[in-house]
Amino acid sequence: MAHLPVLAGPTIDYLVTNPEGVYIDCTAGGGGHLAMLLTKLTPGARVIALDKDQTVLEHTRERFERGRVDFVHADFRDLRAILDELGVDAVDGILIDLGVSSFQLDEPERGFSYHEDARLDMRMNREQATSAWHLVNEWPEEQLKKILWTYGEEKYAPAIARAIVQTRNKGEIHSTLELVEIIKSAVPARYRREKHPGRKTFQALRIAVNGELDALQAVLPQALAVLNKGGRLCVITFHSLEDRMVKLFFQEKSRSCICPPQQPVCTCRHQAELQIITRKPVVPGEEECEYNPRARSAKLRVASRL
Ligand SMILES: C[S@@+](CC[C@H](N)C(=O)[O-])C[C@H]1O[C@@H](n2cnc3c(N)ncnc32)[C@H](O)[C@@H]1O
Repeated sequence: MAHLPVLAGPTIDYLVTNPEGVYIDCTAGGGGHLAMLLTKLTPGARVIALDKDQTVLEHTRERFERGRVDFVHADFRDLRAILDELGVDAVDGILIDLGVSSFQLDEPERGFSYHEDARLDMRMNREQATSAWHLVNEWPEEQLKKILWTYGEEKYAPAIARAIVQTRNKGEIHSTLELVEIIKSAVPARYRREKHPGRKTFQALRIAVNGELDALQAVLPQALAVLNKGGRLCVITFHSLEDRMVKLFFQEKSRSCICPPQQPVCTCRHQAELQIITRKPVVPGEEECEYNPRARSAKLRVASRL
């Protein structure tokens, strides 16, 4: 299934302030947002597209006219260094659309899907050494429980972590469907009948394998530093922890004084660097969620460089 870009219209409308400017899509994925972005820019604009997944990047590169976009296989956590390498000092818009693309979910051998049997992998960057196999077979029970709890918000985290460890004590856990069976054995029957019981565990493992929250934490200050005045940063999140991180970053950088509230006179000389454009996150309407269920948990936040 082709990847349907989430909140594409509002995102690109917010992102583009200068049709001749420099733009970076940090998460090219299937190129949905990228294609829409190009329709708003003049041929003189410069567009850079990153993805840490080489397979996805190559597939998407073929969709676009040669020379129109600079495709770079890179992790956006290295944003500043990537732009330095390309000789770009500053940009007018930065898009970060987090999570996994349909392209990755639809390739069974990547191990992202709990519907298809595959080796436990889930690495977006296949050059990375650590895969889901390592977490499932080698991480201590406590650590597994913690990620299922925090990244997956999985209420049966303790039982699932225990079942994983008990199973692997008898022999290695190889595949996605083996893991699904272990999860099913650890949760009540009622839970198995609601949504797919592997959903939250797979999400947690994917976030941990790919260091998704660390990458977001690392990129936000770099994004701010490379934005031109008036340039926009648009971030689409699918997880409450990610959204909170973006919200707090925007709040902190948009405050002109960070003195303690009880202090009568400002001494911090802190200056606001961002203006928040979306006081509340933009969320998809019912119609979008109906034709693209993946959009359901999406939240778009936008800020502008002062
Ligand atoms: C939700 S998809 C993006 C979809 C895209 N906006 C579209 O419209 O087709 C997220 C993409 O970001 C990539 N990605 C995730 N974390 C990344 C990171 N830290 N650096 C670079 N790419 C990343 C994933 O490999 C995936 O292809």
